[in-house]
Amino acid sequence: MSSEAKALDWQRVASIYDFDDEDVLCVQAGSRRLALYKVNGEFYATDEMCSHGKASLCEGFLEGYRIECPLHQGLFDVRDGSPAGTPVTEGINSYLVQVDGEDILVKV
Ligand code: FES
Repeated sequence: MSSEAKALDWQRVASIYDFDDEDVLCVQAGSRRLALYKVNGEFYATDEMCSHGKASLCEGFLEGYRIECPLHQGLFDVRDGSPAGTPVTEGINSYLVQVDGEDILVKV
């Protein structure tokens, strides 16, 4: 398998039991740090870092499908990483997530 194909594999990043009902955690997927969210029983993944500055969204405040950056309170939609509130104007990457038994897998 080429290293490029390998880089697109599904990777186990957490267990469903690591989460409360509405929650965000930092996880490692290969060389990337991601923010992994649980909202309404579904899981979503985005880049960990805010696009506006050096702040970890894992330390942000999750309300519904929006994560609020802890530094300047910018908002992102966790479903697709799109900007959802100022001062954020640039989106972040989002990643496919699937649940296999108790394992949460992310495609990176
Ligand atoms: S660093 Fe996230 S909104 Fe400024």
